[in-house]
Parts: sequence; C-alpha cells; structure tokens
Amino acid sequence: MKGIVFTEFLELVEQKFGLEMVDTIIEESKLASGGVYTSVGTYNFSEMLQLLGNLSKHTGIATDDLLFVYAEHFFTALKRSYSSFFDMYKDPIEMLSSIENHIHVEVIKIYPDAELPTFDVLEKTDDSLVMIYKSSRAMHCFGLGLMQSTFAHFNTQATILTEKLKEDGTEVKFVIHKT
Ligand code: HEM
Repeated sequence: MKGIVFTEFLELVEQKFGLEMVDTIIEESKLASGGVYTSVGTYNFSEMLQLLGNLSKHTGIATDDLLFVYAEHFFTALKRSYSSFFDMYKDPIEMLSSIENHIHVEVIKIYPDAELPTFDVLEKTDDSLVMIYKSSRAMHCFGLGLMQSTFAHFNTQATILTEKLKEDGTEVKFVIHKT
C-alpha cells in the first residue's frame, strides 16, 4: 500500500483525535516500518489493518465507518495532488465509470507497485451506474466514501446502494442513481 495512504490517514487521526492517539495506535501495532512513512514509499497493507483496528478499539467506531470518513479526507488529498484527473471530467458518472480504464491505469503508471481494486461496469446510463468492486483488501467502504465525495465535488447528489457479493467484503456491487 502506498505511503500517501498512511501519511494522510495519520494526519486525519491527529486532526480528529490528537497526536497522542497517533502515538498510541502506532505503539500498539507491530509495524515493520516502525510507523515512519513517506508519501512515496510502499508499506505492507497489514500495517494499515493494525492501525485501523487499534483506532477502532480506542474510539469505538467500526473500521468500515473509519474507512468511509477517511475516504473523504483522502479525496481532498487526491484533488490537491492530482487535479489534472479532476479537470478531465465534467460529470461524476463519467468519472466513476472511468476509474478502471483510465484513472487507476494512470495511477499504476506513476506507482507500478500500487495495490488497486477492480471496478467492472455492468450498466451505465447518463444518470445511473452499476459496478462490481473487487479487491482482496475489502476497502469497499473507502470506495463508497470516495464515490460520495465525487458527487459532492460535482455539486450533484446520488443514492448509492451496496450489496456484498462475498461476505468478507472482497466483492461488492454498487448501484448508483443520480437524484
Ligand atoms: C486506492 C489513486 C480515484 C477507489 C487508491 C490508491 C491510490 C489511488 C494512489 C492507493 C493504492 C495503494 O495504496 O497501493 C487514485 C486517484 C484518483 C482515484 C489519483 C483520482 C484522481 C478513485 C475513485 C474511487 C477510487 C473516484 C471510487 C470508488 C479506490 C479504492 C482504493 C483506491 C476503493 C483502495 C484499494 C482497494 O480497495 O484495493 N487510489 N484514486 N479511487 N482507490 Fe483510487
């Protein structure tokens, strides 16, 4: 997992819960990196799971809810660092249906070792989109947060329903309708 995911996560934890919480969750996790991350480095996904798990334990907030909130913060970081991707799209459905064939394709060119999900588009109209998320990391709640942020970015609203196709969250159907 790319370092930017860790650096932005710890920044958000500091903002919301304070530096002490950052120290606590790092100390409680067995991190090969020692909890020292650079935005360009690559780290084991298990480190993120441990940090999330320990934050969940201390805050009483479920990890999926933490991932959803984190996605909103990550979206702001993406807009800051990759504004050219956002300038290419005028519509959220267009942008979301292009993650697989454009956006994440470009991401892999920049970071060949990025661990990205797949989004298979099943149906697409001007106002709706049905996609299947697949990833061994089961970060569908992160995806949901990024989708909600995408609609907010274009000043549009949508209902997004999710259906787990696999109980462990590694395959999830997203049904999106502009409202
Ligand atoms: C992960 C880039 C838009 C869904 C990531 C990662 C990067 C990235 C760098 C981390 C990869 C790693 O840690 O190895 C971008 C950029 C975007 C963008 C530059 C737009 C400019 C989106 C959008 C979605 C999305 C709109 C909406 C669903 C995800 C998910 C992951 C992810 C769910 C977590 C990894 C997983 O589930 O396996 N993306 N992304 N991304 N991205 Fe994107």
